Amino acid sequence: MSRPLRALIDLAALRHNYQCACDLFPQSRAIAVLKANAYGHDALRCAKALEGQAPAFAVASIEEALALRAGGIQQPIVLLEGFFEADELPEIARQGFWTALHSQWQVDALLNADLPAPVHAWLKFDSGMHRLGFSAKEFMSNWRALAASGKAMDMHLITHFATADLVDHRYRDIQLEHIAALRAQLESEGFQVPCCLANSPATLTLQGAGTWHRPGVMLYGADPLEQANPYSQTLRPVMTLESELIAVREVAAGEPVGYGGRFVAPRATRIGVVACGYGDGYDRHAREGTPLLVGGKRAPLAGRVSMDMMTVDISHLEDAHVGSRVTLWGRAPDGAELSVSEVANWCDTINYTLLTGVTPRVPRIFST
Ligand SMILES: Cc1ncc(COP(=O)(O)O)c(C=O)c1O
Repeated sequence: MSRPLRALIDLAALRHNYQCACDLFPQSRAIAVLKANAYGHDALRCAKALEGQAPAFAVASIEEALALRAGGIQQPIVLLEGFFEADELPEIARQGFWTALHSQWQVDALLNADLPAPVHAWLKFDSGMHRLGFSAKEFMSNWRALAASGKAMDMHLITHFATADLVDHRYRDIQLEHIAALRAQLESEGFQVPCCLANSPATLTLQGAGTWHRPGVMLYGADPLEQANPYSQTLRPVMTLESELIAVREVAAGEPVGYGGRFVAPRATRIGVVACGYGDGYDRHAREGTPLLVGGKRAPLAGRVSMDMMTVDISHLEDAHVGSRVTLWGRAPDGAELSVSEVANWCDTINYTLLTGVTPRVPRIFST
């Protein structure tokens, strides 16, 4: 018998969600974002599952891209942060990776490199996020220089939205205006400027725009939007984090439970102990009352999350017993659902951090 905690990964749901991302933007092609180990879901298994559907993948670094190549993935792979050292360039050219260029030293390194083949260059425009990328003026001079150099091929404009997940779209629309103005200028000089704009929230809220879009979190069935929206019903959760009760305790009224005694039993209370803790990636900031599903029924977290365990009030669940299935998020066997977004709200965080935070000691079990 091994520890009962596991992350069930539903690859059919991943393919379904990828298809949703395609259907929302039929005139654009969807790059499946697989960085951070596919948001905790296992990048290679997810890439293999999407091999027949996705024309390209995206990751953060050459290390993540090489791991996919080593696993047999043949598709183009976009390096969203480009290269971190100029000496990665020959490998990028050999592997046919598509690299973002966000800083002047990267553009200069490419212009000065002696490479076996031109490199697919995705020049990053800072349209308003102010994280990575070039101003409009810098962008245009780099675009012209790269186009003339013979070192770059298949050039694209890539940019990122700062507020696409919010209800208020005014800032996103300002970014769109900056993008349109930049493209118009370059197109007036005779350049084609294909672009890649939308992450998941922009895929859901922006009707059109871009040769490519690059959804990440929505592929894993997690809702990226701040406001209630119809898409969250369409997406299917890919990860179910589940475990079991490993002990059941009767705690007298007034007795504390767990570290710091944060929870004090308000009455005689039945407490279930769940094999899952922050050492598995469950957020220690989970507030009192954070929901879990015990045998498919909601039950509130009672006390602090510890490294390997947490405690849940099961006083109202007469059937709950040692060995009862506990769903931390995802889908319980009886079909009851607890979204990772809801759990994230209780932890004052976002679904992205919970998914990417599931630690390697949690076995991933795949269904196709
Ligand atoms: C540059 C870039 N593009 C796309 C994505 C995917 O975003 P999302 O997971 O919101 O779809 C990310 C994620 O952080 C990113 O940094």
